[in-house]
Amino acid sequence: MSLEQLYRRRFAGSALLAEQALQRFPGGATHDGRYADPFPLFMERASGPYKWDVDDNRMIDYWCGHGALLLGHGHPAIVEAITRQAPVATHLGASHRLELEWADLIMSLIPGAERVRFTASGSEATTLALRVARAATGKTTLIRFAGHFHGWHDALAPGADPDDPNRGVLPETLASLIILPPDLDQVATTLARRNDVAAVIFEPTGASYGSIPLPDGFVTGLRAITRHYGVLLIADEVVTGFRIAPGGACARAGVQPDLICLAKIVAGGLPGGALAGRADLLDLLAHDEQGPRGRIRQQGTFNANPLSAAAGIAMLRTVATGEPGAIAARRGEALVRMLNEVFSAHRLRGWTAFGDGSIFHIFVDPSTDVMPGELPRSPSLATLKRGGDARLLRLLRMALHLNGIDLMRGRSGFVSAVHSEADLQATVAAFDAAIELALSEEG
Ligand SMILES: Cc1ncc(COP(=O)(O)O)c(C=O)c1O
Repeated sequence: MSLEQLYRRRFAGSALLAEQALQRFPGGATHDGRYADPFPLFMERASGPYKWDVDDNRMIDYWCGHGALLLGHGHPAIVEAITRQAPVATHLGASHRLELEWADLIMSLIPGAERVRFTASGSEATTLALRVARAATGKTTLIRFAGHFHGWHDALAPGADPDDPNRGVLPETLASLIILPPDLDQVATTLARRNDVAAVIFEPTGASYGSIPLPDGFVTGLRAITRHYGVLLIADEVVTGFRIAPGGACARAGVQPDLICLAKIVAGGLPGGALAGRADLLDLLAHDEQGPRGRIRQQGTFNANPLSAAAGIAMLRTVATGEPGAIAARRGEALVRMLNEVFSAHRLRGWTAFGDGSIFHIFVDPSTDVMPGELPRSPSLATLKRGGDARLLRLLRMALHLNGIDLMRGRSGFVSAVHSEADLQATVAAFDAAIELALSEEG
């Protein structure tokens, strides 16, 4: 029986629901990243590091809410905060006490967060950051890095995916972007010859939460260059904030950006985001802003939603101890080490695991000479972004599912503070079996 036949048989309930989904959702999925060939699994419930699909197959979950669930699924402190808040008020359409404590936690944890404005998502936080940067500087152009992801909106989607033809995006919007490789010399040269750049935005561990890591010293170098040329630095810490360190990846590098975009962990696993940063910049949103060009507007029905605030407070109180991030990072590093041991034991060339603390990635491309433990190498940004050889990764993803492992997009993962040593051992054993399965199919 082929791998795909095995997959269809084991996940028969998902196959049926996927058929129905195709009649309702374009491509049968509600998020581009959740699309899967031949069909995605439909999940039913989750607890700690696990989730169960509609056929009751248990998976060790490395999506962890697209990175939002640093404490795993259903952490008691977060469940308690949500259930306490739900009957009190889910939407007050007003200012409320919880938003103050939520902001206090952000301001105490993130260096340079002198003011906060809540949003409903990470995409909204990066959208607002651009508006603030352009309004503050009176300049329109933005430098972003090839492959870095900052949300799906028009202003920043172009450049995230090298294969994206950017259909539906205005030419004027495309023209407002300069897309550079993460190369400090090119940033400096560009800023030396252009005076229309409002800001530089970047993911501080590299494209797609570090699937293409940044060169050493990049974060500090970028801060120095942007400061030298008087250009604002926007850190997109939507994934890395509160995870890489309680203060985020820039805090770890000892760097203070001008604006910091937050989401995911900030809202405790519920929808939410925030823009934080310099008071003189965020105060352009204030109602008494007297600037010659007037104030910036920003609304949003679900800004500082009380349920998200309650979950976010519970999460950030725990994050502030430094403990969950440290435990998750230790486990993530151990997992990367063990996966590379498995790849070595199978004598796999072009297979490697790498990561940064609790975030890990695998890269699989036998046409390269990358050895286990090395960083991926490919002249193609598209290949690096998709984690290597698409055909082999598809087989591996099915084989991992059959062995009870759900990796984010089949090639990355977020380790939570509740993934145990035993979960890691089980993950490694599952990889061992899945590699055999995938390679036997490959012939
Ligand atoms: C680095 C980064 N920025 C922004 C976003 C967009 O956040 P959201 O999906 O909440 O709109 C994401 C989402 O994954 C992200 O990874």
